[in-house]
Amino acid sequence: MKVLVAYASRHGATKGIAERVAATLARQGIEVTLDRADRVRQVDAYDAFVVGGCAYMFHWAKACTAFVRRNERALADRPTWLFSSGPLGTDLVDEQGRDVLATTRPKEFDELAARVHPRDQRIFFGAWDPRAKPVGIAERLMGLMPAARNALPAGDFRDWAAIEAWAREIAAGLAAAGASAEAGAGTGTAARAGASAGAGAGAGAGAGAGAGAGDGDGDGDG
Ligand SMILES: Cc1cc2nc3c(=O)[nH]c(=O)nc-3n(C[C@H](O)[C@H](O)[C@H](O)COP(=O)(O)O)c2cc1C
Repeated sequence: MKVLVAYASRHGATKGIAERVAATLARQGIEVTLDRADRVRQVDAYDAFVVGGCAYMFHWAKACTAFVRRNERALADRPTWLFSSGPLGTDLVDEQGRDVLATTRPKEFDELAARVHPRDQRIFFGAWDPRAKPVGIAERLMGLMPAARNALPAGDFRDWAAIEAWAREIAAGLAAAGASAEAGAGTGTAARAGASAGAGAGAGAGAGAGAGAGDGDGDGDG
């Protein structure tokens, strides 16, 4: 079972989440490749996908949206999970009493979910360091508006327990898919998810490819 974790990260918070997801999957015996979404050229070799991007101004990272659209057929055919790293702070509901993890769902998720039917879409709290060099017009403008910058909670709000639990859910889902496909193989109805399950068994953690690529992701134009 080969899984690609493809991510886009402007300042590194999402990259950290993708790394943790990849490492957790690898610990469950899954062969994982971690790479930036804008650098992945070939998806044929993978049996499943996790795609995660940062959210800015209500939009998911362009590199992730483009990756999903570009590889729509492969992602729709194979188990796929999406995540966004977005809200900042610790409040679970906003001033209007709305669920923060629902209101920060990127605008693109409806369209992308209709295209690839992900097994799950998850929003994780993110991180932001106001001292980071601004990327993109919105962040540069915000640098000129201290009131706007101060309104944004600074800090690392990533919920590692939730992130790891989600990755373990993914591993369990893949194991179940592999097991049912193996059972189906006897009747000639093997699904792709299980087709290489045996080949992946005991494979080492490949979660390193592309991991040292710095924080940028080609998402600096927002
Ligand atoms: C200018 C700016 C705009 C942001 N807009 C959103 C947003 O619309 N929705 C959201 O959930 N988070 C938003 N965030 C929070 C980021 O998504 C969060 O910090 C994320 O973890 C950053 O990931 P990265 O370090 O991988 O770029 C915003 C942050 C900044 C600085």
